[in-house]
Amino acid sequence: PDYDLLVVGSANADLVIGVERRPAAGETVLGSDLAVHPGGKGANQAFAAARLGARTALLARVGDDGHGRLLLDSQRNAGVDTAGVLVGGAPTGVALITVDPSGDNSIVVSPGANARLAPADVRAAADLLASARVVSLQLEIPLETVATVVEVVRTGRASAGAGTGEGGTGGAGTGEGGSGEGGPRIVLNPSPPAPLPAEVLAACDPLVVNEHEARFLLGDDPAGREEAPETWAAALLARGPRSVVITLGAAGALVADRDRTVLVPSLPVKAVDTTGAGDAFTGALAWRLGVGDDLETAVRFAVRVGAAAVTRDGAQESFPTAEEVAAR
Ligand code: RIB
Ligand code: NA
Repeated sequence: PDYDLLVVGSANADLVIGVERRPAAGETVLGSDLAVHPGGKGANQAFAAARLGARTALLARVGDDGHGRLLLDSQRNAGVDTAGVLVGGAPTGVALITVDPSGDNSIVVSPGANARLAPADVRAAADLLASARVVSLQLEIPLETVATVVEVVRTGRASAGAGTGEGGTGGAGTGEGGSGEGGPRIVLNPSPPAPLPAEVLAACDPLVVNEHEARFLLGDDPAGREEAPETWAAALLARGPRSVVITLGAAGALVADRDRTVLVPSLPVKAVDTTGAGDAFTGALAWRLGVGDDLETAVRFAVRVGAAAVTRDGAQESFPTAEEVAAR
């Protein structure tokens, strides 16, 4: 494969204002100067991986406008192959972000061009999909588009004739190191959360969720009302993903597959701006899986990347190089 990682997902211009506190309905508050940063969960993941040294490509859609150019420039500067980034159809996606003094954010996204990344765009990029060891997905693009990625990857695997049945790489230790001839391994962060088709869930290796996303996916399941991430992980695994990673902020990340559940601790850091830290985590995780790490090893690395990302402002600008991660 040409790429360790292909990210299929969103690219947004992040319009960020620092606030002392968030306004209630009908209220106006004054904030800091406006900052405009390249963002979007897909672009953030690709940027994070490329900055770490991954051979990375992005399949996305931006508008033919200044925000789109900002995003293409930042991806190229990080070393992401942007040949798969489509231009036009709607304005570039925008995220309106407020960041409070504790580093927590609230985000409203206008999907714009991201909502026009269509199943047909994915089918037209089948060769690109087949040229990656790992394909990473989030939910700021249409769910049908995400489902089409999963379908194209599965059919590609079937026609690659690996002869190992559904998924091509099934069985214990699925897809460690990406899956080479068996077709790419799929990593999905269902953010913002939405109900997932069974075929999509079954393809995830891993499904990467935070606490909020875990509880959303569990819905009425009593497991979601407990305070035990191990219980959520078991209940999520029962829905079909081959593995699950639950990010727990300062508590680290829980890694679970059919054989075992391991808590990977976080590093103590002072949070300045958590925007995009989850994307940096997932981009780093997906890359390490693509170059052959087992899931727990990849999560141990990704936790350090996510921790570095919260210590600086913005999303992509805050993501570390491999040297910085090693120095921590
Ligand atoms: O996950 C952080 C990202 O969410 C921001 O960059 C913003 O664009 C929204 O998509
Ligand atoms: Na940050």
